[in-house]
Amino acid sequence: MCGIVGYIGKRQASPLLLDGLRRLEYRGYDSAGIALLTDGKINVFRKAGRIENLRKAVSEANPLGDIGISHTRWATHGAPTDENAHPHLDQSGKLSLVHNGVIENYQSLKDALKAAGHVFHSETDTEVLAHLAGTIYDESDVSDPKQRLVASVQKALARVKGTFGVAVMHADVPGVIVGARLGSPLVVGLGKDEQFLASDVAAIVAHTRDVIYLNDYDLVTLTRNSYEVSSLDTTRTANVQVSRVDFTEEDSEKGAFEHFMLKEIYEQPQSIRNALRGRLNRDEATAILGGLNMSSMELRQIDRIIFSGCGTAYHAAMVGEYLIEALARIPTEIEFASEFRYRNVPTTKSTLQFVVSQSGETIDTLAALREAKRKGLRCLGIVNNVASTIARESDGGVYIHAGPEIGVAATKTFTSQVAIMTLLSLLFGRMHHLSSTDGLELIDELEAIPEKIEAILKQAPLIKEIAQKYAHAEGMLFMGRQINFPVAMEGALKMKEISYIYASGHPSAELKHGIIALVKPDLPSVFIAPDDAVFDKNVSNIEEVRARKGPVIAVTTEGCHELERITDDVIYIPRCKSILSPLLTVVPLQLLSYYVALARGCDVDKPRNLAKSVTVE
Ligand code: M6R
Repeated sequence: MCGIVGYIGKRQASPLLLDGLRRLEYRGYDSAGIALLTDGKINVFRKAGRIENLRKAVSEANPLGDIGISHTRWATHGAPTDENAHPHLDQSGKLSLVHNGVIENYQSLKDALKAAGHVFHSETDTEVLAHLAGTIYDESDVSDPKQRLVASVQKALARVKGTFGVAVMHADVPGVIVGARLGSPLVVGLGKDEQFLASDVAAIVAHTRDVIYLNDYDLVTLTRNSYEVSSLDTTRTANVQVSRVDFTEEDSEKGAFEHFMLKEIYEQPQSIRNALRGRLNRDEATAILGGLNMSSMELRQIDRIIFSGCGTAYHAAMVGEYLIEALARIPTEIEFASEFRYRNVPTTKSTLQFVVSQSGETIDTLAALREAKRKGLRCLGIVNNVASTIARESDGGVYIHAGPEIGVAATKTFTSQVAIMTLLSLLFGRMHHLSSTDGLELIDELEAIPEKIEAILKQAPLIKEIAQKYAHAEGMLFMGRQINFPVAMEGALKMKEISYIYASGHPSAELKHGIIALVKPDLPSVFIAPDDAVFDKNVSNIEEVRARKGPVIAVTTEGCHELERITDDVIYIPRCKSILSPLLTVVPLQLLSYYVALARGCDVDKPRNLAKSVTVE
């Protein structure tokens, strides 16, 4: 949530900062700003709205400067206005600061500063931090300006309750940027005679692939030719490791696609192949998941599994629950990450917890991980972002290897997470009741999934037509049974978040327990009804909707023509093993929501009020 980019070097900073912000726009996009240090003076540009607005303002002024910090915002405190956009200045106008996170005690700090005569120009918690650091700097007796700035940032952060990723510069300390993190990611990019600071490598990968992922409590001091990492917490020492980024600038570009979301939907055959690569053992009819960091003996003793995640990751975990219970017969529970730490979930000595997260930075999921570890549970991550906090803090896990996902609506990471859940079920299953014949059949079926997704993608024109027909519905219901109930939830989430049509997902049988009251001619219902053990039950539920004149769109299996008679529109998926069907049934729903959003003129990749990575509670 929110994106930071900082630059110090030999090039003009503003184009680099603006380009970096554009690549981070998925983290927040309600306002943006940059501050440049030119001839001992800080120049600030801030604009509400998209980065394009900022770009125009900056290019009109054409400011010079080879050091700068910048920010794209997702508002927490204060509306998205020019005044509330970052960077913020201190009282002297010499210290400039950008911030991700939330300062929980900002009001008491603000009151104290106001009493001392400080005047604030925004409603943000960040401006309070800028004033605090600035006033500590002004009152400091440290003579070396660089040390003085570092110490001021350190002291200010010590008084803050909450989370932060910050970048700071001061007009009297030219050639220095100070960054620090607690709960919000920050990465340092190392160049030749230049250094970068960013919330995500995507912002800087065009310039350098050598990076240092900062840990919580790290403080970094950057000059054009040096970096120094120290700890805000005197009881810790900073652990500095230079890593090489394994993706390129092109991986986070749209290419020929109109939107990232569409590109990412089309990437699913490949992202699933990547998730499976090297992880299937045909000889033993099982999965190889070395990253779990557990011996076969330890894995065999697991008697309870808990999954937690948020949003789409939670829906993937729901599919995981069905998979593990069906294939491995291990009692499995899922919990919203945001609720997990407020519950007191009973566990056994051999309970294994998984946290599921694309970004690996979702604060609620991170909190669930920390809570599980606090209680002594072994906690593993199912994560896309290899450098993320969750990846680093978990006891092990499985990377989904889906590549960068930029569209705010998660698509390919859902199917990759489900593919990993299938591998886990296969692994645990083969340690318990699953026969090698059944294991091999699952492997065969899993390997065939990418090609089947390709076949579904070819139906995009038909799905687009269907989407146009229903694009102006006031609401939509999504219904599925068994392992396709989570897909109904996921379909509804996609529809809501990018098209702003109210949608909800339910087990089909729940219809008659209340939801049917909503059914009417202008409220379409989407039934996920593949040809499986509960197909006939779904048919009955479809009939119930038809009887009340509700339009029905069905997703079903090829060759299963029965639904054409009782529904308005049918989308077919290739036949597959029932337990794997979520990997296919979700794809038409992703396309449906995409084309509905397009028909409604919505900003598909950057839906209102959302951000890709949710790093506030
Ligand atoms: O990065 P994470 O997987 O932890 O994110 C979790 C949710 O915020 C995320 O899935 C969100 O619901 C998406 N916008 C759904 O499309």
